[in-house]
Amino acid sequence: MRIALAGKGGAGKTTISATLSRLLARTGTRVVAIDADTNPNLGPALGATQGPVDATPYLPTTLVSRRFDGPALSCTVDEALAEYATVAPDGVLLVRMGTPQHTGEGCLCSAHATASALLSDLGRAPDTATVMDLEASPEHLSRGTARHAELLLLVAEPYFRSLETVKRQAALAAELPETRVAVVANKVRDEGDAQAIDEFCERIDRPCVARIPWSDDVLEADRRTASLLDHAPGSAVVAALEGLIESVRTGHVGALATGRR
Ligand SMILES: Nc1ncnc2c1ncn2[C@@H]1O[C@H](COP(=O)(O)OP(=O)(O)OP(=O)(O)O)[C@@H](O)[C@H]1O
Ligand SMILES: [Mg+2]
Repeated sequence: MRIALAGKGGAGKTTISATLSRLLARTGTRVVAIDADTNPNLGPALGATQGPVDATPYLPTTLVSRRFDGPALSCTVDEALAEYATVAPDGVLLVRMGTPQHTGEGCLCSAHATASALLSDLGRAPDTATVMDLEASPEHLSRGTARHAELLLLVAEPYFRSLETVKRQAALAAELPETRVAVVANKVRDEGDAQAIDEFCERIDRPCVARIPWSDDVLEADRRTASLLDHAPGSAVVAALEGLIESVRTGHVGALATGRR
């Protein structure tokens, strides 16, 4: 299972990616969490110890080779994970896409291609789930970073600009041949918020597969540089994400998203 998360800046992609990764790992599956944001924040959200994360190299662009059907890794997935993954809580394997090392160094296409190649090759890794945390810019769509994801979750907050972003990204993602697209409503404060997102999903013909409430637990975890799961395991946000995982595992999300590319 390969899931990617996109949406407007600050919508909650990293919080949800981290929590989903750890909850999935608790089901006994090997989980690879790919931080595909050039401003990486997935480590702290997972509750990973910063020292080992900092000591582990970013995915180098030399790792990507060209196969006839697109970019692929020039080594095996396990070799890449042995060298470039940090073990985060619950055994999640955190891998970070390359980030700029200098000003003016140019575009980051190769970094995106490397993350994409890893995601592609992870499709052949047995008993492995992958969660890819994307950046806010829609460049990951123009570069096809998540084109090998089976499920793209667009995280939407209940306000116009967030929904507009999801609408644009859903339209672009409709061109991805392997990827189903669904919406996750985040920071839902009341029934009015929930309704606004439901109506929006109707309009763009994409299913809303989870409703995650607004919770101060998330902000407090952030303030403490802790993961939500460690700070507030009983949070309503965690419960909502457990529900989402169950729906993904039982195929309910896939069925809802099928045919709505
Ligand atoms: N359900 C929630 N309730 C309250 N606050 C939330 C919720 N989800 C996320 N947040 C807060 O929103 C902010 C942005 O969250 P997060 O970093 O996960 O978003 P992001 O989409 O990954 O952002 P970026 O685009 O910068 O990568 C953080 O302060 C986080 O604590
Ligand atoms: Mg983020």
